[in-house]
Amino acid sequence: MFSGFLAAGILEKAAAKGVLDIRVHDLRDWTDGKHRQVDDRPFGGGEGMVLMPGPIFKAVEAVRAETEAPVVLLSPQGRMFDTETARAWAVCRQVILICGRYEGVDERVGRHLADAEVSIGDYVLTGGEPAAMVVVDAVARFVPGVVGKAASVAHDSFAEGLLDCPHYTRPRVFRGHAVPEVLFSGDHARIGRWRRRQALAKTAALRPDLIGARPLSAADRSLLDEIRKERKEP
Ligand code: ADE
Repeated sequence: MFSGFLAAGILEKAAAKGVLDIRVHDLRDWTDGKHRQVDDRPFGGGEGMVLMPGPIFKAVEAVRAETEAPVVLLSPQGRMFDTETARAWAVCRQVILICGRYEGVDERVGRHLADAEVSIGDYVLTGGEPAAMVVVDAVARFVPGVVGKAASVAHDSFAEGLLDCPHYTRPRVFRGHAVPEVLFSGDHARIGRWRRRQALAKTAALRPDLIGARPLSAADRSLLDEIRKERKEP
């Protein structure tokens, strides 16, 4: 599952440059017995199988190279993964991600091994693997040297608590839809204000929760007032 993800694009280039080292481990390597069993039936009865704590504890203890490395359990019960968390983990020398499974993971993993339990959204995946890929990708972008231009990360959606402004490239008119004139003005201060205004307007319309979550500068507040007046909001 991970080989395609790690063998292409920005992550592959970062690994080749040596700024990123992503290792995938198979829990079955820490099992006893010829069936290499990692799960068992739930105590108390019920559907499905539960991942046993033994192989997970052993695997984490074996791969942990940094005593400080955060151990993260991916599960739909976790706290929501976000850009702040991605940024925080990007400065760690090692982060250990444990992929759960939809039936469940023995509770002692979350309680006594993992430092954090995180979810990538309010939906249930068949396993934690796609969630781990999401987390790896989002964290990797904040690791210095992974994304070509650090500035492109700084201005992305959520980086400053707002959605990103719109971007356009050629052609100037596509199927009757023209690129906004301001972008051809050559006036970089004006373009900058326009982009900020667009980012604020888009965030206010699509993600008002983000607007409330952070203090805004005086300039942003007045832009937002203008936007609201135009939309005839209170
Ligand atoms: N495993 C299954 N569903 C998940 C989710 N939403 N987030 C993280 N890990 C998961």
